Amino acid sequence: MSEVSLYETQLVQNGKTGIPRLLEIAGTKSAYLVFASILAAIAVVAQVTPFATVYLLVRELLLNLGNVAQIDIAYVWRLGWITLGGIAVFGVLTYTGNMLSHIAAFSILFEIRSGLAAKLGRMPMGYFTERTNGSIKKVLHDDVERIELFVAHHILDIVQCVVLPIVSVGALFFFDWRLAVGVIIPLPLAFLAQYSMFSPRGLELYEEWQKRLAAMNGTIVEYVRGMPVVKVFNQTVRAFKRFAADVYAYRDLTLHWVKVSATSFTGFLTLLSAGPLFVLPIALFLMRNAGGVGYVDLVTTVFLFLYIGMGIATPLYKLMTLVAHIVQITTGLTKIDEVLTAPELPEPEDGEEPHATNIEFRNVSFAYGEQTVLDGVSFTVPAGSVTALVGPSGGGKTTIANLVGRLWDVGSGQIMVGGADVRHIGSERLNRLVSTVFQDVFLFFDTIEENIRMGNGDATFDDVVAAAKVAQIHDFIDSLPEGYATKIGEGGTYLSGGEQQRVSLARAILKDAPIVVLDEATAYADPENEARIQRALQTVLDGKTVIIIAHRLYTITDVDQILVIDRGRIVEAGTHRDLLATDGLYRRMWDVHTKARNWNLDMDEGVVR
Ligand SMILES: Nc1ncnc2c1ncn2[C@@H]1O[C@H](COP(=O)(O)OP(=O)(O)O)[C@@H](O)[C@H]1O
Ligand SMILES: [Mg+2]
Repeated sequence: MSEVSLYETQLVQNGKTGIPRLLEIAGTKSAYLVFASILAAIAVVAQVTPFATVYLLVRELLLNLGNVAQIDIAYVWRLGWITLGGIAVFGVLTYTGNMLSHIAAFSILFEIRSGLAAKLGRMPMGYFTERTNGSIKKVLHDDVERIELFVAHHILDIVQCVVLPIVSVGALFFFDWRLAVGVIIPLPLAFLAQYSMFSPRGLELYEEWQKRLAAMNGTIVEYVRGMPVVKVFNQTVRAFKRFAADVYAYRDLTLHWVKVSATSFTGFLTLLSAGPLFVLPIALFLMRNAGGVGYVDLVTTVFLFLYIGMGIATPLYKLMTLVAHIVQITTGLTKIDEVLTAPELPEPEDGEEPHATNIEFRNVSFAYGEQTVLDGVSFTVPAGSVTALVGPSGGGKTTIANLVGRLWDVGSGQIMVGGADVRHIGSERLNRLVSTVFQDVFLFFDTIEENIRMGNGDATFDDVVAAAKVAQIHDFIDSLPEGYATKIGEGGTYLSGGEQQRVSLARAILKDAPIVVLDEATAYADPENEARIQRALQTVLDGKTVIIIAHRLYTITDVDQILVIDRGRIVEAGTHRDLLATDGLYRRMWDVHTKARNWNLDMDEGVVR
């Protein structure tokens, strides 16, 4: 069984959440982890052993202080070797246990990441164009990484923090049960004092604290991200007030929480290390009745008890903080599971082959979550013809365009390409058929050449240049010192919105698909450039089936069909001439448009300038 399919069978989400889910995930590597835990437990015994042997050694020397000849040399040597052995075993087992837990952890991380990657591949493309990209990255990186903490470190920490007090207390009982009772008396009291933090009120406070922390973090991000807008509109003070309000709210709650739990937490910490308080009186009481050798014996034993008794507090305290850490890890796990259970885009077994490139929307409705965006949209785009979508912003044009490439599935109705439902074509074949220039351009952190070549991996450099020429971006690229080898983005060259748009247009041209969807592909271009791009496009688009979304109406006056989209419906349809004749939305848009354009022309002629 391969690692990835192991993931599919065992790590897949099954409704469990929180710590049980975390344990279930760790459980996929239980063999490693159980073995590592056993080693960790033995390591703790080895860790405590030197304390016991040194104690026995000192005791042997002190008891024979008056008569050195009586010291059992063989016994002393044996204790010496056991001490050394304990230290060595502790080292070796700790190392081996950690190796095993890290092997388990990193193979689990690998499996989760492979599982997430496989899952993302089955998700609708639209999933990624939404505002989720940042959070997907966080899930794949941070949230998965946190699981490493639990599997590689926390499990063994817990084992050690539980076993160390048990072994220590066991050893103390072995040496002197009366003093041992003194050591353990304060422990239950300590946990009792801590109760208030785990009471319903305490947990409520913790939840509230987490909420305010999240609110504060959200505001901080928004504050920083919105800084340009804030500055441009001189809203620094107002924005800062909101930011400050959340920071204060967080501070106030934290202080309140600290005040409420200060007493019980202090009680907890004090009692946890209060061993001597109970050991010493018992020791004094016992000493009163002991004489000579028994007295020396008791004094050495008391030192052992004070030392080990104090050492019990540390692991118990660590155990408390571990719980808080693990709760944090489980919140990240919930995010991972959200991705793993998100609805997928079903793929057909063997896809239908479209027989042509005509597009047909049949009574299509669509909603993003609750918000209905398209409502009964029907139209056809005959093969080889050009259809333009126009209308007010937010009307649903982009959504229509993206549905052709099946970024999402329709809510109801059907979208046909060449007589086949896009859901039955299969995403690979559909991707080959449809080339889209998205309204939101996405370029990779790579060279300009590779960004364009993404449209067609087999293209030669000359093909890339030819596509760039059509998109009117060649001259610009050529003017860069490194030309087509220029890296885009961080550490490289930043392109303006218009330049990015033209690179992505070149990418779509290079793809040379029979269906082309252009979503405001020239929105950033100035009128002169736009006209040039359009002329060049005419040749490469000849014979293709085209859907074009334009916000400058004069660019689409000679297309075969114009659909006017408003609030999720087609309100008018026809040629430019038809629509001007109907006194409707298109006519009004055209009037506004021509006025604005004349104003532009005036500007060009220097009237306004
Ligand atoms: N990814 C998305 N998630 C949620 N709502 C969206 C998303 N994309 C667009 N919308 C909403 O859908 C409506 C139509 O948007 P869109 O198709 O982009 O219109 P247009 O391209 O005509 O401006 C708008 O109200 C917009 O806010
Ligand atoms: Mg749009």
